[in-house]
Amino acid sequence: MPAAVEFDLQGYLARQSERVHGALERLTPGEAVEPCVIHKAMRYSLFAGGKRVRPILAIASAEALGETGERVLAPACALEMVHTYSLIHDDLPALDNDDLRRGRPTSHKVFGEAMAILAGDALLTLAFQTLAQGQGLDAAQRLALIEELSVASGTAGGMIGGQVDDLEGERHAPSAELLHRIHRAKTGALLRASVRFGAISAGRLPGSDACQALSGYGDAIGLAFQIVDDLLDIEATPEQLGKTPGKDAAQHKITFPAVYGIEESRRMAAAQLETAHAALRPFGAQGAALAAIANLIVHRNS
Ligand code: IPE
Ligand code: IPE
Ligand code: MG
Ligand code: MG
Ligand code: MG
Repeated sequence: MPAAVEFDLQGYLARQSERVHGALERLTPGEAVEPCVIHKAMRYSLFAGGKRVRPILAIASAEALGETGERVLAPACALEMVHTYSLIHDDLPALDNDDLRRGRPTSHKVFGEAMAILAGDALLTLAFQTLAQGQGLDAAQRLALIEELSVASGTAGGMIGGQVDDLEGERHAPSAELLHRIHRAKTGALLRASVRFGAISAGRLPGSDACQALSGYGDAIGLAFQIVDDLLDIEATPEQLGKTPGKDAAQHKITFPAVYGIEESRRMAAAQLETAHAALRPFGAQGAALAAIANLIVHRNS
């Protein structure tokens, strides 16, 4: 991993977060647009200080294929919109019932449950509007992105399917098979889609060698991401996390530490990191940002 060691990840993340922030600003209706309350609620969660992992993965994946322009920005923002919608709904009383998100009271605590549900719905809808309009992308690219995101956030192996299994799992004994299915779907699918978004925006349609190679990386970091999320739920503070720790055990969630224990979960996250680095070999130095992001995903504390 020498490329990752020399890479200025903090500088890179700061620059890319700012680009994503600017693009989200442009793509999301302002708070003065009627009905104001829904735009306030959408913006409250979108601009609450998320890490922007998914859009930055899309940008870095496009760069790994030589695409450094602006055309990946709108698709990258669509990923963040769907992710933010998933968090708003994940926190609802009917799901995980959380009070704190991104260091702030959750959407339903501020805007009420009805408006939080609608803010999630609205972000999901805006994501697909954004893709349909995708500037600088041809029709085949826009269609591929729409299909990719709808499958990744859908029921069969996608985010919603994972959320369903996660909720139903609260009433079942933990099993390794169910655990892997939950993690691959509820978190892995959108992270995999993020790197594929980069490839598609760079003109490499699904099925291309580049898209396949990046998918291997995406699968590995997708799994690692949720393993670490589960570990942080046990080990991190509310200040580090911006959300309430200890919820998984309290809600009998099927997590990596619950099935494998903390040490083995750490080992498994490290193994996924190795797999991610191996998948990046064909990209050489152009994969440096992706390599550094993989390290961050596994070694983060927030
Ligand atoms: C948290 O995602 C929810 C999971 C899918 C595990 P992030 O850790 O990326 O949350 P933000 O976007 O930084 O708030
Ligand atoms: C949620 O997983 C993943 C989503 C699809 C939103 P978690 O329930 O573990 O996410 P956190 O820990 O609340 O962020
Ligand atoms: Mg949840
Ligand atoms: Mg949750
Ligand atoms: Mg969690």
